[in-house]
Amino acid sequence: MQIITSPQNFSEEELYIDLRSIFGHTLFLKCEGFNFAGSIKLKAAKEMVEAAERDGILRPDSILVESSSGNLGVALSMIAASKGYRFLCVTDRRCNFSTRLLMEALGSQIHIITEPDADGGGFLGARLSYVQALCASDKRYVWLNQYTNPNNWLAHYHTTAPAIARQFPQLDVLFIGAGTTGTLMGCARYFREWHRSVWIIAVDSVGSVTFGDPPGPRMIPGLGMGVRPPLLDESYVDEVIRVKEVDTVRACHRMARSGFLLGGSTGTVVSGAMDWLTRHEAPDLTAVAISPDLGERYLDTVYCTSWLQEVYGDGVFEPDELTAREPAVSLIGSIPSINRSTAR
Ligand SMILES: Cc1ncc(COP(=O)(O)O)c(C=O)c1O
Repeated sequence: MQIITSPQNFSEEELYIDLRSIFGHTLFLKCEGFNFAGSIKLKAAKEMVEAAERDGILRPDSILVESSSGNLGVALSMIAASKGYRFLCVTDRRCNFSTRLLMEALGSQIHIITEPDADGGGFLGARLSYVQALCASDKRYVWLNQYTNPNNWLAHYHTTAPAIARQFPQLDVLFIGAGTTGTLMGCARYFREWHRSVWIIAVDSVGSVTFGDPPGPRMIPGLGMGVRPPLLDESYVDEVIRVKEVDTVRACHRMARSGFLLGGSTGTVVSGAMDWLTRHEAPDLTAVAISPDLGERYLDTVYCTSWLQEVYGDGVFEPDELTAREPAVSLIGSIPSINRSTAR
């Protein structure tokens, strides 16, 4: 039994899904969605807040402010509520509706940026400028800045990576999605110092500029950046895989059809990993991937047929998948008359 008094003190570290029965390759998917913030960002939030408290940056009258596409915002909302701080989340219109409601329920304030940066910095550039202006306007604002804060990657160096190492002493390949690159850099640094060499593969979405590609439209939050992530040190990354959002969606739906409802970035990581495992035909490899969150926050996007058609057109599903998809919901206006001979 585990008894807690603060929500941030619970985190599931030992749950993996073996995806072989769904995709045909053994890939152990570390599930990070089972905590009270519902995502891996709880770890970064906890480490950054605790460090700011230790350093005397966070005081009782401080107002935490952060730019987040959602999950860090939820994690900080939860920790702020638990510790009695105020929190203002600066997000943009791609933030899931349910994520916004979660932050509100936890007592946070939310400012939504509706237009991307005019100088090509995308929504992220616009969010960062807004946070900087807020901090300049009032000394009570404290910006932990997940994009530059070393405690972001240290959280994974201290928790995620050692947890994987404990369960997989023969680990060969690790697939990690890249957002701020906190998870990537923390795990990559840990495994660089480990007793055996592990191939570190970063998975990014097409349209992200993280690894030097040109910017493009991206609708699924979590992975990918509109500006180059300051935490990234590419010398720790052995390989980069780029995944199109339609492939993200396909992987998500394939897992959901087996009962595993996982978040958008999990679909990206799994799609990239399965593609890599297919190309490398190495059945004895021990491969692990990290799933940052669960799928419930994506019911109105990744798992919503009308949203998918609006954003990606009809081509998201393969023709055979489309014909197999009957309408999930039917509106029944009146009770149909019952054929009495068959009803008895
Ligand atoms: C759902 C999801 N996946 C992946 C990531 C990327 O993690 P990181 O910022 O550590 O690179 C995030 C970050 O917010 C996220 O919310």
